[in-house]
Amino acid sequence: AKTHYRGFIIQETKVKRLCKTHNSITVNGQYPGPTLEVHDGDTLVIKVVNRGKYNVTIHWHGVRQIRTAWADGPEFITQCPIRPGKSYTYRFTISGQVGTLWWHAHSSWLRATVYGALIIRPKQGDSYPYPKPNRDSVIMLGEWWDANPIDVINEARRTGGGPNVSDAYTINGQPGDLYKCSSKDTIKVPVKSGETHLLRVINAALNQPLFFRIAKHKFTVVGADASYVKPFTTSVLMLGPGQTTDVLIKGDQTPGRYYIAARAYASAPIAPFDNTTTTAILEYKAAKNTSSKPIMPTLPAFNDTKTVTAFTTKFRSLGKPDVPKRIDEHLHITVGLGINKCPPNFKASQCQAPNRTRFTASMNNVSFVLPSKFSLLQAHHHGLSSVFTTDFPAKPPKKFDYTGNISRSLWQPIPGTKVYKLKYGSNVEVVLQNTNVFTSENHPIHLHGYDFYVMAEGFGNFNPKTDTAKFNLVDPPQRNTVGLPPNGWAVIRFVADNPGTWIMHCHLDVHIGWGLAMVFLVENGVGHLEKLEQPPKDLPVC
Ligand code: C2O
Repeated sequence: AKTHYRGFIIQETKVKRLCKTHNSITVNGQYPGPTLEVHDGDTLVIKVVNRGKYNVTIHWHGVRQIRTAWADGPEFITQCPIRPGKSYTYRFTISGQVGTLWWHAHSSWLRATVYGALIIRPKQGDSYPYPKPNRDSVIMLGEWWDANPIDVINEARRTGGGPNVSDAYTINGQPGDLYKCSSKDTIKVPVKSGETHLLRVINAALNQPLFFRIAKHKFTVVGADASYVKPFTTSVLMLGPGQTTDVLIKGDQTPGRYYIAARAYASAPIAPFDNTTTTAILEYKAAKNTSSKPIMPTLPAFNDTKTVTAFTTKFRSLGKPDVPKRIDEHLHITVGLGINKCPPNFKASQCQAPNRTRFTASMNNVSFVLPSKFSLLQAHHHGLSSVFTTDFPAKPPKKFDYTGNISRSLWQPIPGTKVYKLKYGSNVEVVLQNTNVFTSENHPIHLHGYDFYVMAEGFGNFNPKTDTAKFNLVDPPQRNTVGLPPNGWAVIRFVADNPGTWIMHCHLDVHIGWGLAMVFLVENGVGHLEKLEQPPKDLPVC
C-alpha cells in the first residue's frame, strides 16, 4: 500500500460560466477540483490550506474513516472549521472499499465549487469482478449559480424562504451545448468501437436528484457508493446528491456523436426547480463527421418516480454479504420538511415561506442545530457536557399518518443538538419514514462513517407487520446514501463498529441548513483497535 501526500489550497479563482466571470472558491484553482486516484489499502495525507475568505472543511464522502473520525470533515461535527489563513492535515486509510467516492467542502454552500472525485481501484494485484474496461472516466454532475452560492444560501436564511434555484447543471464543471456561451467548452468523452468504457458517475449537485442518460447506449451497473453490485442493465440512471454509480458502456453503436445528458428528478409537487438540461458528448474515435449534431436521448419526465423505483430496486450486493440479523437498536426516524410560525420579533421580509412562515426540517421532530464553540467529537472526547444532549428520540413523538393529508399544526419541530448513543458493535436498524407535513420529496439520506444495507423501500407509512417480510436478508445493496422515496420509507441496517460522532443528514444542502440531520455517537469498544485514535495536533479550534 502507498501513502499519497497532496496539498489542497483553498483559494478564490476566476471561473467563467454562462457568459460571466465569477470569483469562485476552488481547490488549487481547479473547478471541479483535483481527482484523487488511489488503491484500496492506501493512506491519504492531505494538507488543506485555507487562502480563501470563508471558513472551510473538507469531507471525504463515503470513506469509512475507521478510528479516524477526526478526518471526516463535517464542520462542528468532527472538527471546527479551518479559518482563513489556517491549515489542517487530513490523514486516513482506505479500508475495504473499491469504486468511486468523492470529496467536498462541508461548510455552508461551499461545496457548490469545492468538490472532486476519489477513485479507488482494487488493491495492487487484485482485479475487478468484471472484465477490465479499456477506459475509465469520471462524470461529475454539478449545479451552477450565477450568484455567489454563499450569498444565495445567506439570503434564504434571512428570508426564511427557499433559496433561488441554480442557473445550470454541469458535467465535469461545464453546462454544455444547451446553455449560452457554453458550447465550445462542452465535455467530450471518447469511445472506440468495440471497447468497454467504465464511467464513474457522481452526483455532486447541491440540491437536485438527477436523471442521467446517453443516447442509444445502455448502461451495465457494476457499483454504487464504492461497493460492488450484481450487474444489471438499464438505459437511465437516477442519482441523488451524494450518490455514485459505476457503469460500463460499450462502443456498440454506429460511430458518431451522442449526447450524454442529465436533468432534474423533482419529486416535490410544489417546490420550484431548475428545469434545464446539461450535456456532454460521447464521441466515437473513428467517427467521420465530427461536426454532425449529436443525437439527444429522451430523459424521463421530471416527476417520474415510477422510473426511479424501477431503477433503485434493481440494486443487489455482489456475493453474499454479512447482513446483521439480530438487531440491538431499532430506530424509527421521520424525515421531513415543515414551516414554523413567524416569531413575533421578525419582520414580514424574514418570513417568506408560504403563509408568512419560515421553512424548517427535522428528524423525529428535532430540527438539528450545529454547535459553535466545539465540535461534537471534541466535546465527546474531552467529556465536555453542555455542547450536546444524548436524548435524540428513537421514535417519533406521536402516532401519526406520516404520508396522508395531515394538519401542520401537529408538527412544530423543536431545535436541538441531540445525539443518539450506540454501544460499540451494536447492530442497528433504522426505519426512515418520509412525511408529508409540508410536502414530500425524495430525500437522499447520507450516513457518515458507515456503509449500510438497504433492506427494503416502499410507499406510504411503514407497517412493521407487513413490510418486514419485504426485507432482503440475502443480498441487499450497500450504500452510504439512500434516496428516501417521496411519501415512502426505507429501512437500513449497519453494525456500529466505528467509534465517533457521525452525522446522518439529507444531502440536499438546503435541507441540512433547515435542520434535516441527526448524529450517532458511537462509543469506543474495549479492544485497542476498537477505539478512536487521539486527535491530531493541528486539529482546528473554534
Ligand atoms: Cu457528502 Cu455530510 O456529506
